[in-house]
Amino acid sequence: MADSVLLSCDALPEVQPAAVCGAVVDVIELPKPDIEAGAPLLTALSRRKSHRSLSEEALCAQALGELLWAANGINRPESGGRTAPSAQAFNEIDIYAALPGGVYRYDPKGHRLVLKHAVDARNLTGYQDFVGTAPLDLVYVVQMSRLLQMPPQQRETFSAIAAGCISQNVSLYCASAGLATVVRGWINHRLLADALRLNEDELPILAQTIGKPAL
Ligand SMILES: Cc1cc2nc3c(=O)[nH]c(=O)nc-3n(C[C@H](O)[C@H](O)[C@H](O)COP(=O)(O)O)c2cc1C
Repeated sequence: MADSVLLSCDALPEVQPAAVCGAVVDVIELPKPDIEAGAPLLTALSRRKSHRSLSEEALCAQALGELLWAANGINRPESGGRTAPSAQAFNEIDIYAALPGGVYRYDPKGHRLVLKHAVDARNLTGYQDFVGTAPLDLVYVVQMSRLLQMPPQQRETFSAIAAGCISQNVSLYCASAGLATVVRGWINHRLLADALRLNEDELPILAQTIGKPAL
């Protein structure tokens, strides 16, 4: 889909996850981020835009580690503070990474990806054609069980804002590192929850595709 094509809300037929090619890795240890790298913040802001034409080329481990750390990694080890804010630090958003080699959950404490389900679920993270071929689709999942102390009327709004903060961190990292990204709300929540093997109290609310810009 070209960058200029506007988002359509027509439903498309349901699809199945693809099989993983090759050996499945249980844990992907991520390199530490280089916090001196990348374009300055204002330069990144001047470059930020949505991309829908992405290369199929895999991201290197350094970029994968940096973008997940930028998303919601621990930037203050003494307190466990994160790069993204969350109301009362409930940190209710988990990040799932749909990679060609499987679906993984980002573990901020270990700065690593932990295998959730050995399928290639990229094509289930949205209806748009590029989501199944780009090298990475992130899915932002609300862990409702972490919000029990929050008044019920605030839970939906505050968790959506928290996911928005995380996705903007990713967008700015991508703009800073020369990567392409688009945040996506056009997802099938039920299909995606099944593909990610989520529990009843886990709700996928937003997705984001990342890759190198198509040449
Ligand atoms: C909450 C939210 C949901 C979005 N959902 C989609 C989506 O499902 N698919 C898509 O291609 N773009 C999606 N977008 C991207 C917008 O279409 C895009 O930001 C807008 O057209 C402005 O373009 P720009 O980001 O290049 O400035 C979404 C953006 C936001 C903030």
